[in-house]
Amino acid sequence: MDKLKSLTEEFSKKGYVKIKLQKNSLKYFNKLKKNIKIKFKNKFKKKSFEKFHESISFLEINDIRIKIIEFMNKQNYIKKGIYESVQPFLDASLGPDIIIQKGINMAIQMPNDSKRPPFHRDTPHSSNHELVVWIPLVHCRKTMCMHMFDKKYNKKAISLFKGKNKNRFEKFAEKYGDLIDVKFGEAIIFSADNFHNIPINKTKDTRWSLNIRFKNLYTPYGERNILDYFEIIKISCVTKFLN
Ligand SMILES: [Fe+2]
Repeated sequence: MDKLKSLTEEFSKKGYVKIKLQKNSLKYFNKLKKNIKIKFKNKFKKKSFEKFHESISFLEINDIRIKIIEFMNKQNYIKKGIYESVQPFLDASLGPDIIIQKGINMAIQMPNDSKRPPFHRDTPHSSNHELVVWIPLVHCRKTMCMHMFDKKYNKKAISLFKGKNKNRFEKFAEKYGDLIDVKFGEAIIFSADNFHNIPINKTKDTRWSLNIRFKNLYTPYGERNILDYFEIIKISCVTKFLN
């Protein structure tokens, strides 16, 4: 079986998959990292993305993250770069008419920072036809990564929200979560309908990652509509003809 087919089959079973980015797209991510470092040079005292926390406090990080996101979203090569980096998988799984989230998100998870999104899935806010592409900008291992959950655990995960035990989400994540090491140059693609959990980063490095959503133009929408939230990245000749 060829690699792409086995990846799409793995996705069909679990709702997530780790893939390698297209080699010739790494230049976009390297350019982004270089530009961030130049623009925010006074924040990179250690000159490394991984050691960013050594010059930044927990109090400052969110403001800086917002400024970096603003800066990143003005870099017009990056959206195309992200699409190209995962294009074979997206084209195979979403088809010829693909839309992309307008704004790219970035997470900067410093060691031992307890502020993080809760255990969740992106639906129904997102459509369950959306794919989330999660791309780290540094090598991520152990708790720098995200717990992914096989779709077969969705019912169990939903029942957790009625529970009372304070640690129930962490316990569930440890028992059923898949904490996959993801290097720079790789990505996780997961269904917006799959639960995911961000553990406290217990490593000595800061995790930097991008996330952005894709879907087929003609699939059902969640609460986010096409004009506000998405833009077209690839269109079929039939759609072009009809418009
Ligand atoms: Fe999410």
